[in-house]
Amino acid sequence: MKPVKMQKSSVSANKFCFLLILTFCGLLLLFPILKPQTQQENMPKPRPHIKPFRTTLASITRNSSHPGGADMSMRLQPSSSDKENDMRSRLRNDNYSSTLESMSRRGSGSSAKEKEVGGHLVHGSSDQLDLKDVFIAVKTTKKYHKSRLELLTKTWVSRAKEQTFIFTDGEDQEFQQKTECNIINTNCSAAHTRQALCCKMSVEYDKFIDSQKKWFCHVDDDNYVILPRLLQLLSSYHHSQDVYLGRPSLDHPVEATETEGPRPVKFWFATGGAGFCISRGLALKMSPWASFGNFISTAEKIRLPDDCTIGYIIEALLEVTLTHTHLFHSHLENLQKLPTESVLHQVTLSYGGYENRRNVVSIFGGFTMAEDPTRFKTVHCLLYPDTQWCSKILLRPK
Ligand SMILES: *[C@@H]1O[C@H](CO)[C@@H](O)[C@H](O)[C@H]1NC(C)=O
Ligand SMILES: *[C@@H]1O[C@H](CO)[C@@H](O)[C@H](O)[C@H]1NC(C)=O
Repeated sequence: MKPVKMQKSSVSANKFCFLLILTFCGLLLLFPILKPQTQQENMPKPRPHIKPFRTTLASITRNSSHPGGADMSMRLQPSSSDKENDMRSRLRNDNYSSTLESMSRRGSGSSAKEKEVGGHLVHGSSDQLDLKDVFIAVKTTKKYHKSRLELLTKTWVSRAKEQTFIFTDGEDQEFQQKTECNIINTNCSAAHTRQALCCKMSVEYDKFIDSQKKWFCHVDDDNYVILPRLLQLLSSYHHSQDVYLGRPSLDHPVEATETEGPRPVKFWFATGGAGFCISRGLALKMSPWASFGNFISTAEKIRLPDDCTIGYIIEALLEVTLTHTHLFHSHLENLQKLPTESVLHQVTLSYGGYENRRNVVSIFGGFTMAEDPTRFKTVHCLLYPDTQWCSKILLRPK
């Protein structure tokens, strides 16, 4: 009997121990689950690494020997005028982190994709990039030579004459004589049709390949390109990588059907109206579908406009993803929403739109709305106060 009793008590003791161990293990298991949660609450949210980004800004605004920032920093050398000093300090003090934050707060795709942009911007495989390494294609039509192109050639294009190429559709002796810019007559139709637009894109592509430059950037004739910012953005990548940078025009990928098959395809594309850039490495891979007029037949295959076709070739055929950036802006957005202090930190700006001629960025100084309805002159004078016709901006109270 005794041994049985002892067994019983040792069994219950074992049970007790077992339960104790179970409880202990349970607590141990719970502990790591609870702990990081409370830690996460107390920890600041992960942010894009803005430090290297700031450093680049500093070198652009302060160091005239910085290869990328040379153009801008020369304009920012000390000068006697207080107004000018004020503008320079405004340029210098502008807060990039708040720009990045507001970028990630704005718009539909608030989340991962956009935050990624902050990360991408600063991710530093630095390419000692010079403005002359960038091929900038401006797409226009003869009808807009006077009303749109004159403003561009007077402003940002004048700071990038060598590498800017204006792709148009008609001879214009008067315009050609007045400007020192590169004008290319594509001989494409002036109609605003898919075929005509793709015809121009096709010529742009071929000219870029011929140019041997490192980056291809396409903009429209209603875009202002903030050159130092473009250079800064491109400098965070290498031209031999596969890079396709731009603003997605939709908050979801476009779905289309290839005529052959027919096969459904789904891909993102950068809206042409905001401008986009492609590295040389990637552009070369596009060749079978884009060079020597192949672009036009590719566009026919998918029956979509020029900018969509670029996205189709890159995302659907080459399986390279679009790097989403909200530093590019088209007239399809509400441009007034862009915070004033962030305007000069964007890569491209735009104005107007089909319904709203007053859709412009909010930036002030010097020019009234009547004198500068697009705000491009004001932006230009804030960036390059030494421009001859900008002197009036310095004489006026803010
Ligand atoms: C400016 O840049 C040059 C070359 O990039 C560098 O050697 C120099 O130290 C920089 N100066 C300042 C003040 O950052
Ligand atoms: C357009 O036509 C003109 C005259 O025939 C020619 O000189 C020019 O090279 C053509 N442009 C392109 C981009 O093919």
